[in-house]
Amino acid sequence: MIEREILLEKMKTSPYKPMRGKIIQAYMLTEKEKFFRIELENKINLGHEPGQFVMVSLFGYGEAPISICSSPTDKGYFELTVRNVGLLTNALHKLGKGDIVGIRGPFGKGFPIDNMFGYDVMIVAGGLGIVPLRSLIRYIMHNRNDFGNVQILLGCRTPKELLFKDETKEWMKRAEIKLNCTVDRADEEWQGNVGLITTLIPGVDINPARTYCVIVGPPIMYRFVIAEVLKKSIPDHQIIVSLERRMKCGLGKCGHCQIEGVYVCQSGPVFNYAQLKNFKGECHEKAA
Ligand SMILES: Cc1cc2nc3c(=O)[nH]c(=O)nc-3n(C[C@H](O)[C@H](O)[C@H](O)COP(=O)(O)OP(=O)(O)OC[C@H]3O[C@@H](n4cnc5c(N)ncnc54)[C@H](O)[C@@H]3O)c2cc1C
Ligand code: FES
Repeated sequence: MIEREILLEKMKTSPYKPMRGKIIQAYMLTEKEKFFRIELENKINLGHEPGQFVMVSLFGYGEAPISICSSPTDKGYFELTVRNVGLLTNALHKLGKGDIVGIRGPFGKGFPIDNMFGYDVMIVAGGLGIVPLRSLIRYIMHNRNDFGNVQILLGCRTPKELLFKDETKEWMKRAEIKLNCTVDRADEEWQGNVGLITTLIPGVDINPARTYCVIVGPPIMYRFVIAEVLKKSIPDHQIIVSLERRMKCGLGKCGHCQIEGVYVCQSGPVFNYAQLKNFKGECHEKAA
């Protein structure tokens, strides 16, 4: 009897035990990405930092790390954006309002918001990279006086793949935020920039000493974007990236996410460039 009670107590507090997350809103953002607003029991807040992720599970399909795209200032729910790439994400795409998913977390280290207070912020988002960065952008907007100038550079392959289109339009209208968007290939309706995201960086006017540059995007993007950003003389510890690794536990136990002895799920996924350089270039190939 006592043993059973101990077991139940342990399960209650175990970081391996998923919480019940109820989908309260779900819709397709693009052909491949679906947006979910999720409520935990009793509407408790996740209490996350922008840049952190949760492990999302579905019985019979498995579990995957997914970045939280809402801000901690959005209360009573949190939001995720899922790209359909395989077994679990395909099953998640079939879910809608009222369905239940398993949620563990939040895990990892988020963007260094406390250090960023009072600084200008330059955000470089490529493709799905806007997902964790949306959390940061919303946080900054809800605490606008705590930050200096905000510049957002947004890039994706085609206009159809642009995530959070309506929100992006709203951000563009705000006088205190500069937003530049580019696509690799335009369609007939596209009136914005055409070209890689790196082409937008030389035109950005910043004071390097008082700027944090936060970059999230596909692996191929990092090397080229960081090279351009370094030309602006931003100090290494003020260049921030988020890495993607295969993850299982999210807790620094299984070792799946290791880079040279560093557990990305715990010490990351957010790192600064000074830390990134210690990964001897390997992470430039595999950063997300
Ligand atoms: C910290 C972190 C945050 C993430 N945030 C998001 C997010 O916000 N939205 C989102 O859609 N995805 C995100 N991902 C990626 C997501 O976890 C994978 O796409 C997911 O695990 C795929 O699961 P699946 O069962 O659908 O695919 P599987 O059936 O397991 O695999 C399908 C294909 O995807 C590839 N794949 C699987 N996992 C990964 C991975 N971690 N990295 C690269 N390729 C992979 C496989 O090689 C295979 O080609 C994140 C990953 C990490 C580590
Ligand atoms: S995912 Fe298990 S140690 Fe990082």
